Amino acid sequence: MSYIVKCFECGRKVTDGLLDSCPKCGGLLTVEMDLSPLVRKELKDLRKEPLGVWRYAPFLPVDRRKAVSLLEGGTPLYHCKGLGKKLGMKDLRVKYEGANPTGSFKDRGMTVGVSRAVELGCKVVGCASTGNTSASLAAYAAKAGLGCVVLLPSGKVALGKLAQAMFYGAKVITIDGNFDEALDIVRQLAKEGELYLLNSINPFRPEGQKTVVFEILDQLDLHVPDLIVLPVGNAANIWAVYKGLTEFRDLGWIDKMPRLVGVQASGSNPIFKAFQEGKRDFKPVEHPETVATAIRIGNPASGRKALKAIYDTDGVAVEVTDEEILAGQKLLGRTEGVGVEPASAASIAGVMKLRQSGEIAADERVVCICTGNLLKDPDTIIKNSGEILKSKATMEAVKRLMAQ
Ligand code: F0G
Repeated sequence: MSYIVKCFECGRKVTDGLLDSCPKCGGLLTVEMDLSPLVRKELKDLRKEPLGVWRYAPFLPVDRRKAVSLLEGGTPLYHCKGLGKKLGMKDLRVKYEGANPTGSFKDRGMTVGVSRAVELGCKVVGCASTGNTSASLAAYAAKAGLGCVVLLPSGKVALGKLAQAMFYGAKVITIDGNFDEALDIVRQLAKEGELYLLNSINPFRPEGQKTVVFEILDQLDLHVPDLIVLPVGNAANIWAVYKGLTEFRDLGWIDKMPRLVGVQASGSNPIFKAFQEGKRDFKPVEHPETVATAIRIGNPASGRKALKAIYDTDGVAVEVTDEEILAGQKLLGRTEGVGVEPASAASIAGVMKLRQSGEIAADERVVCICTGNLLKDPDTIIKNSGEILKSKATMEAVKRLMAQ
């Protein structure tokens, strides 16, 4: 396994492992893997390992023998025939990332990111988060025996995620500001050497996250879907998926790219707006708001990478309202028995919208990446799932309610 870290903007090689941006132009960093050991190999050569992040170890920039792992990845790819039928689609699949160890796709990035922190000899790791990153980092830091600090926007983190970060022993600090402000502070702390930053601007995080698309292609026996649809918040995951696709393509393991669809909540939609205007850069949204608190982000750090991923694949950015998100969440749950948190349901809502507008054709194969588990956000479920019926403790009273 060999690789270089370089600037996404100016291409300069960066050797200081503690930097999260280019010392010359300030651009984000990215990892370039040397894939030459894989040139004479095929996907089936990797299949002796169980499905999961570490099946793809030759694509990852850390030594797997020293990896901090909770056996992440290996998540189901559901063929959603019932929901597909409802939406007039022949082939709709859901990659259910809620089945990861801490209940979201973040674990794919954290196994690589925290392994990197250990490799560098860091003692304290930290992040800003809308919830899932903090839950995942707290768990992996506990496993690695590292100190962990997480900065969260006060009152805007779903209960399950907050509970996880506290439970795994992270120092949880809530700020009277939003995610974007929390990220600015934690970046500054990293610069001053107070912690090793494990937000997704850390280029090792997307390396782990790209395995979600390796698994999708693996599970589809390398039949490339027409579209892959996913929610966009801080905008690294869509970049990770794009990067993974280019690596399989460069090896000749796939011969075409799917179109990537990035879905944003309409109250937190800078990437959607930039796409509408045909721009490769975006203007931050000042006061982001949405029921999908995981993607309540106005100034996505990896926004430029996300736009490249969308344009290069002839993809689309779409926005959906909170009502559409909650309707998509419920429809997926009640048609397929698959429970996802609101941000994840944005991908379902996005598909519904694009199917209605005709942008997605009936016979196209579409994969939605549903990034987080339903149980992350119990308050939203309880608020939107109808009433609990209350009864006297007699069979007659219960029967009366059943008949209603
Ligand atoms: N879905 C869920 C469930 C998320 O938690 C996030 C991001 C996203 C989608 C968007 O991914 O940021 O790579 O575009 N959550 C981060 C966090 C910001 O702090 O947990 P992205």
